[in-house]
Amino acid sequence: MSIKSDKDLITISTLKRLKEKGEKFACLTAYEATIAEKISKSGIEVILVGDSLGMVIQGHDSTLPVTMENLIYHLKCVVRGNINSHIMADMPFMSYSTDHLALENATKLMQNGAHSIKIEGGTWICKLTSILAERGIPVCAHMGLTPQSINRIGGYFVQGRDVNKKKNMIEEAKALEDAGAEMILLECVPDDLTADILEKITIPVIGIGAGQRTDGQIMVIHDLLGISCLEKSPKFVKDFLKDSSSIEEAISNYSKSVKNKSFPSDNHTFF
Ligand code: KIV
Repeated sequence: MSIKSDKDLITISTLKRLKEKGEKFACLTAYEATIAEKISKSGIEVILVGDSLGMVIQGHDSTLPVTMENLIYHLKCVVRGNINSHIMADMPFMSYSTDHLALENATKLMQNGAHSIKIEGGTWICKLTSILAERGIPVCAHMGLTPQSINRIGGYFVQGRDVNKKKNMIEEAKALEDAGAEMILLECVPDDLTADILEKITIPVIGIGAGQRTDGQIMVIHDLLGISCLEKSPKFVKDFLKDSSSIEEAISNYSKSVKNKSFPSDNHTFF
């Protein structure tokens, strides 16, 4: 048994309890130990070892080149720095393209310290979600703008604006919950769609560019620190370092702003 802290580990049950009490939780990406420790120390509930590492760490223009090997390397670094946050690990592009591959790769992530895994998709990941959930692997289903499908989507823009797409996404979220997903992550969707999804499902919903109503918020750490290489930041991004005197303070201000519901504001929301 490893005893790193007397603080209780944040689990899926903790997140569900926070949702029941109407309290928001904060999530951030991390890819290495030092930042992971600062994030966990500041009381951020969830650390995502995201495949965004392909863009912010490796300098690619999409998440597609990220491999299982890359993900496991960064996961191990984060696990060493983490104190008691819940660690979610992304399953990279094509690492869950068949049920067999998905089981094998999700097992590797869990055995290397992840507490849950995240996969992108809608209806097509329902069966896979059941398979993983039945075997004890908590799944977060990433919906809306799914960066691994960027070549099909055609760009990084808001999803679910038209009536049919909206209806589909609401049904897909419900189907994913019924399949055993423990959480849904919504990326880049309009506020009213977020509201409709929240009404239909009971599991925690994490948002990025999905408005203020979600149970949790997530940001890429590089965006929070204002050091992303993008020429123009997406609307939902806020540089918290600008008004803070240190990285620790920026992370803590983000956490406070999520919990007191001042972030995201209408300025960061798609309507
Ligand atoms: O990989 C990642 O960092 C993500 C977030 C954008 C949610 O999936």
